[in-house]
Amino acid sequence: MKMSKITLNIDGTEIEASEGMTILEAAQSVGIDIPTLCHHEKLEPYGGCRICTVEAEVRGRTKLVAACVYPVEKNLTVKTRSDKVDRIRKMVLQLLLSHAPDSEQLVDLAKEYGADKDRFEKEASFCIHCGLCVRYCAEVKKKNAVGFINRGSKREINFVPEIAARECWNCKECFPLCPTAALQAAYVFTESLVNSSPPYETDSE
Ligand code: FES
Repeated sequence: MKMSKITLNIDGTEIEASEGMTILEAAQSVGIDIPTLCHHEKLEPYGGCRICTVEAEVRGRTKLVAACVYPVEKNLTVKTRSDKVDRIRKMVLQLLLSHAPDSEQLVDLAKEYGADKDRFEKEASFCIHCGLCVRYCAEVKKKNAVGFINRGSKREINFVPEIAARECWNCKECFPLCPTAALQAAYVFTESLVNSSPPYETDSE
């Protein structure tokens, strides 16, 4: 099926995009950078972290939207940086840094947006709930070896020992996806195996 073309404006430049693209994809197609944390091109759009927030104006109304999930539309005017956008990114970063104060990626972004990593009380668990590892394992690897446990601020990832013991040793593709601490992900993985009672099921699917 032939996708129809849509013209929109991003940061003052007229851009031609295909119907069904997101603002993020349209921006990336012309080299405009929008920061992301929970986005991965192989995964379904998620819209979890909000660091990709941009200002979008359509039919005279301006709203703040997540660029990684918001579809392009005709006559859309997008600002990828503005006072409002920067304020939201700063706030998002301050909240995320309370969970993962040592994340290099977050610290770099914090410098750019003037975010204070001590603004909120630390609830360091490293996990910022981007879901990249969980979704990658489910959507790309189709293994569901890692999932979320607990709710609210206690939400964290956890490997399912029976599946992880069988699938993860030769994969580990989710570790480098983690925007906060790949090594910590490895630790959670190991811990989940150590703390479950062996022997693991290794022969059944
Ligand atoms: Fe868009 Fe996370 S990258 S919400």
